[in-house]
Amino acid sequence: MDFKLTEEQAKIKQMAADFAKNDLAPTILERDAAGEFPTELFKKFGKTGAYGLPYPKEVGGLGGSYMSYVQAVMEISKVDAAFGIIYSVDTSLYGGSIMNSSAPIEIKKKFIEPITYGEKIGSFGLTEPGAGSDAAGCKTVAVQDGDEWVLNGSKCFNTNGPVADFTVIYALTDPALGTKGMAAFVVEKGTPGFTVGRVENKMGIRQAQVSEMHLENVRVPAEQMIAKPGEGFKLAMKTLDGGRIGVAAQGLGIAKGAFEAAVAYMKQREQFGKPICKNQFLAFKMAELATQIKSAELLLYNAVAAHDEGRYTIEAAMAKLACTDAAMEMTTWATQFMGGNGFMKEYHVERMMRDAKITQIYEGTNEIQKLIISGSLFR
Ligand code: CAA
Repeated sequence: MDFKLTEEQAKIKQMAADFAKNDLAPTILERDAAGEFPTELFKKFGKTGAYGLPYPKEVGGLGGSYMSYVQAVMEISKVDAAFGIIYSVDTSLYGGSIMNSSAPIEIKKKFIEPITYGEKIGSFGLTEPGAGSDAAGCKTVAVQDGDEWVLNGSKCFNTNGPVADFTVIYALTDPALGTKGMAAFVVEKGTPGFTVGRVENKMGIRQAQVSEMHLENVRVPAEQMIAKPGEGFKLAMKTLDGGRIGVAAQGLGIAKGAFEAAVAYMKQREQFGKPICKNQFLAFKMAELATQIKSAELLLYNAVAAHDEGRYTIEAAMAKLACTDAAMEMTTWATQFMGGNGFMKEYHVERMMRDAKITQIYEGTNEIQKLIISGSLFR
C-alpha cells in the first residue's frame, strides 16, 4: 500500500494547515470558552469548497479524494477539534447519507451543492434517547400521506443540529419490521413542527452545537425520502463507517497536536538542571506514544484505502478505535508532562484532553468498534 500523498492531497493538507494556523489558532481559547458556533470561520473555510471535497463534481462537490478530506480534518483538528467535528459531521455524516443513498442525481445535487462552499450546513439525526449504541431501537416514525411523509419523534445528541439547514432524519415507516422498516429523509430547517430542543452543555468540543431535535407532524415531500423503507438502517450504518474515518482523522489530529505541544515544552522546560526530555522515563513514554500515534495513522490510511475500494466497515472501526485511543492517551500524558502548566488553559493540552474524550464515544463508542471488529473474527 502506498501512503505517499499525491500533489492534490498535499495541497489540501497545506491549505487546511494554513487555515488552522492563521485563522483558528489565534482565537481558539476565546472561542472554546464562549462555546458558540464559529459562524464566520465556518463560512471562511467554506470558500475553499472543503465541505464537499470528496463528492463528485456532478453533484456540486469538488471531486477530491477521501484522503484529501481526511488530511484536512486532521490538520484542522490539530488546532481546533470542535471545528474538526463540525466539518466531519457536515461532510461525512450529512453529505455521506446523501451520497450513499439511492436518491436520484438531481436530489443529491440539490442537497450536496449548497454545503460544498459552506452556504448551508448539514446534520445527521439517528440517535434517540432510547437508541444510542443500539441504533435499531429507533422510535421516530414516518407515515405516508399522499405525496408527503409525516414524521413524528425525537432525536438527541445531534451535532450541528441547532445550526443545520438540512438534517437527515432516520425513521421507521413500519415499526413492526424494526431495522427492515427504516427509511431516511432530508428535513429542512424551518419546516413546521421541526424544532430544536435542549442544546447540550458539554465537557469538550464546546463550539460544536449539539442538541435534541423534535419532530411533530413534520410534513416532508416524498422526493426528500433519500432511503426507501428497508434501506434506511443500512444507509445509516454505511454512512457511519465513513463518519468513523472522519472521527479517526479528528482523533489523530488531536493526538498530533498534543504530541507537538509536548515535544516543544519538554525541550525548553528545565528541571534538575536539564531539559525534562533528558529524563529517560519521560523520553521513553514519548517513544511509546510516538509509536502508538504512527500505528494509528497507518490504520487510518489503511481505512482510507479500503474506503476507496468500497468495503471498509472493519478498517474504519479499527482506525476509529486506534486513533481516538491515541488521542486520549497522548493528551492525558501531555497534560501530565507539563505538570501545573498543563492544567492551565493557555498551554492548550487540557482543552485537547477534554476534546479527545468524546472521540472515544461518538459515532459508535469504542466498545461498539470492538463489537464490530470481534464480530468479523469468528464468522
Ligand atoms: N454497512 C452496511 N450494512 C450494514 C452495516 C454496515 N456497516 N452494518 C450492519 N449492516 C446491515 C447488516 O448486514 C444487516 O442487514 P440484514 O438485515 O440484511 O442482514 C442489518 O444492517 C442489521 O445489522 P446488525 O444485525 O449487525 O445490526 P445491530 O442492530 O446488531 O447493530 C451495531 C449493529 C454495529 C451495534 C449498530 O447498531 C451500531 O453501529 N451502533 C452504534 C450507533 C452509532 O454509531 N451511533 C452514533 C450516531 S451519530 C453520533 O454519534 C452523533 C453525532 O452527531 C456525531
